[in-house]
Amino acid sequence: MGRKIIKKQLKEVLVQRKVVQAPKSKPVTKRKAKKQAVDLPKDPQAAADALEAGLKYYKRTSGPSSKTADLISQLAEALQQATGAPPAGHGASVSVRGVAFHPPGAARPLLTGVSLDLPADSLSVLSGPSGAGKTTLLHVLAGLSEATAGTILLGGAAAPRPASPAPAAAPARLRASGVVFQFPERHFLGSTLVEELTLGWPETGPGRTRLAQRAQQVLAAVGLSSTPLQARLSSLSDGYKRRVALAVQLIQQPRLLLLDEPLAGLDWMARRDLLTLLQKLKGQCTMLVVSHEIAELTPLADAVWRLADGGRGAYRLDQSAITALKLTSGADQP
Ligand SMILES: Nc1ncnc2c1ncn2[C@@H]1O[C@H](COP(=O)(O)OP(=O)(O)OP(=O)(O)O)[C@@H](O)[C@H]1O
Ligand SMILES: [Mg+2]
Repeated sequence: MGRKIIKKQLKEVLVQRKVVQAPKSKPVTKRKAKKQAVDLPKDPQAAADALEAGLKYYKRTSGPSSKTADLISQLAEALQQATGAPPAGHGASVSVRGVAFHPPGAARPLLTGVSLDLPADSLSVLSGPSGAGKTTLLHVLAGLSEATAGTILLGGAAAPRPASPAPAAAPARLRASGVVFQFPERHFLGSTLVEELTLGWPETGPGRTRLAQRAQQVLAAVGLSSTPLQARLSSLSDGYKRRVALAVQLIQQPRLLLLDEPLAGLDWMARRDLLTLLQKLKGQCTMLVVSHEIAELTPLADAVWRLADGGRGAYRLDQSAITALKLTSGADQP
């Protein structure tokens, strides 16, 4: 069966499932499929189901080949862009080995011999005494600073193709990750929700359309879809401001999401909402949450790490150590 015909039949399946518009005349080309797929339904589950049906059909009719895999990847990517939902297995696995960081002018290294692992799509908590270097480590992981020794590998089942772990220098880490800084609302540059969300977006073109489509999904996911886009950020509660900061990052679909003390300064209701939100985000990307709030975060966490005093290494806490830390009031204070 010719490639064009197979593509046409795949298109028909997608049309049947109301994923793409009915063909006008010619068989769909890769370019057209991608373009038309942008008109997919908003419901990610319907779109995912349709893609699955289409791909099953496509595999059955054409058999596995690198060209098939290529087209499948492209369609999956188009679908993902259209629905705004990150593809399954989007998160990066992170492997940190013997990392040190000694900024110029500092009397001593802020981090030495730090090793830790973050499995793809997991949520890990990083605890440690005040001043241990947790924020510093977050900045290094995010690619905002380069480690002065050691290696950081990024890998995992990156869509559309699996990626094996490879050393990732600061620029690669910067592209792969998103950071929600401590008290992110203090760093807002826009004055309204829409200004903050669209900061740095291309002025026009498909890139902007894609971001706008994702924004819709992300705003719904973080519970901001009923907040007017023109709402002044200063009028939002602290909890809602955190949601805005999170949305700004999620729109970029980071493979690694780093959060620095996301619960700090929030009242109990906003904390509960944020924890629910983090739970919802689990599995969509790899998350590392720096926090003193072990008790609140451990129910969500796949692993809890502790950075030693002076940034001298990191170790994974076992259940008894977590319990002991939860019970020790002020354990993270200096
Ligand atoms: N650019 C820099 N040059 C020199 N020292 C720095 C620099 N940045 C941070 N420090 C110092 O590095 C240490 C680690 O700071 P960092 O903010 O990473 O700690 P932290 O674990 O996040 O603390 P906290 O729990 O209070 O947020 C601190 O002693 C801080 O004063
Ligand atoms: Mg800090």
